[in-house]
Amino acid sequence: MTKKTILIVDDEESILDSIGDVLQDEGYRVKTASGGKECLEILESGEPVDLVLLDIWMPDLDGIEVLKKVKESWPFLPVIIMSGHGTIETAVSATKLGAHDFIEKPLSIEPLLISVENALKFKELQEENRLLKEKSSKIVEITGKSEKIKQLKEQIRIVAPTDAWILIQGENGTGKEIVAQTIHRLSKRSNRPMVEVNCAAIPDELIESELFGHEKGAFTGAVSMKRGKFDLANGGTLFLDEIGDMALKTQAKILRIIQEQKFERVGGSKTISVDVRIIAATNKNLEEEIKKGNFREDLYFRLNVIPIEVPPLRERKEDIPLLVQEFLNEFSKGTIEMEKEAIEALYNYDWPGNIRELRNLIERLVILSRGNLITKKDLPKHFLSGSSVGDAQVLSGSEAECFTCPDFKRARAIFEKTYLERKLSEFGGNIKRTAESIGIERRHLYRKIKSLGIQN
Ligand SMILES: Nc1ncnc2c1ncn2[C@@H]1O[C@H](COP(=O)(O)OP(=O)(O)OP(=O)(O)O)[C@@H](O)[C@H]1O
Ligand SMILES: [Mg+2]
Repeated sequence: MTKKTILIVDDEESILDSIGDVLQDEGYRVKTASGGKECLEILESGEPVDLVLLDIWMPDLDGIEVLKKVKESWPFLPVIIMSGHGTIETAVSATKLGAHDFIEKPLSIEPLLISVENALKFKELQEENRLLKEKSSKIVEITGKSEKIKQLKEQIRIVAPTDAWILIQGENGTGKEIVAQTIHRLSKRSNRPMVEVNCAAIPDELIESELFGHEKGAFTGAVSMKRGKFDLANGGTLFLDEIGDMALKTQAKILRIIQEQKFERVGGSKTISVDVRIIAATNKNLEEEIKKGNFREDLYFRLNVIPIEVPPLRERKEDIPLLVQEFLNEFSKGTIEMEKEAIEALYNYDWPGNIRELRNLIERLVILSRGNLITKKDLPKHFLSGSSVGDAQVLSGSEAECFTCPDFKRARAIFEKTYLERKLSEFGGNIKRTAESIGIERRHLYRKIKSLGIQN
């Protein structure tokens, strides 16, 4: 097991020495800081620390102030307060602010060691708990028995345990995110976090602060120091989703940083080193984007160490029954079924929105169903005609249909979809430029694209 690191913060050197020695003898790694500012500097540098022993009265920065800051930026890091000027009130206020324990000076060794052990055990249990919750709430298996899915699963099984970087490509809604989560779950880093960055949803001007964090006061609104996603993913996986939508300027910056695994926070000068595995995903054809000058070739080669293609649903229609079953269970808890003819009718369609579109359809059918069997008659028109053309979801409408459709919400959705598709194609699928031109927020446009099942 790796040694736990304890940071002792006190302005009295003799305390640092004596406690430091005791803790080292007990098998801990010890770091020391002679004041509150130095304590925060050490934590901000990203050095791993498992526990802080914090003096209250220090000339440069009061222990209570330090405690507040630590709890703000590292809520899961336990802090034990030690004080010789300890009054009941200070002890109470420290505990309220999230201190794990309060011990009085002069320190006696036995109670100190017990308190340290308890705090570390608590932190371990808390972390285990968090990871368990994270895992149980998010696990979605890759459903399917088709040849293409078997190959995909086999490929994942082979590459997941290596530390290689991976580029996942595939159309909208094919399951790229689930593939990334599965790779992380089967990797050696699975007990560390997988942190996701959606490059399409974050405005250009915020992406650096999002990725690398920022120091307090780095820009208006930066009221406190914030750790970036690179920092948070340390030891784990960083999932750069929709990488094809990242601005060229950010691509240049990120290329250098992912190569060196070192960076500075926005407005800061300290270099932070991390160890992250990168998995990137996109629904764009990056080779074409390179030709168009929208994507850097060097970044493409760096990310594309192992390419994984997630097949569209139309190339593995034999998985439809299994997927339908899975979504029926999810949305109706197994109380609603779908007749065989209805499932067969789902083969008559190309599924441009892929699995997301199928999942949305099943959800709607479950909500609208009056009995416990969904029949062919319940399906939207384009499944019945046997035509394989059509738009995503039940929105197979055209401009004209906006005016004849009796349902306002549906008419509006048809209009929005037609309008946005046209605008996106006018701007070559560039979300940022389209959003600017039509005067809506990029994040809002991104959500619309997803919810309307627009192919971009
Ligand atoms: N093989 C699968 N089995 C079960 N559910 C799946 C599978 N693949 C995808 N899904 C579901 O389909 C939806 C879309 O999946 P996901 O978000 O991973 O797609 P994506 O490729 O990342 O899409 P986009 O390009 O739009 O970001 C999710 O609700 C997911 O749970
Ligand atoms: Mg995705």
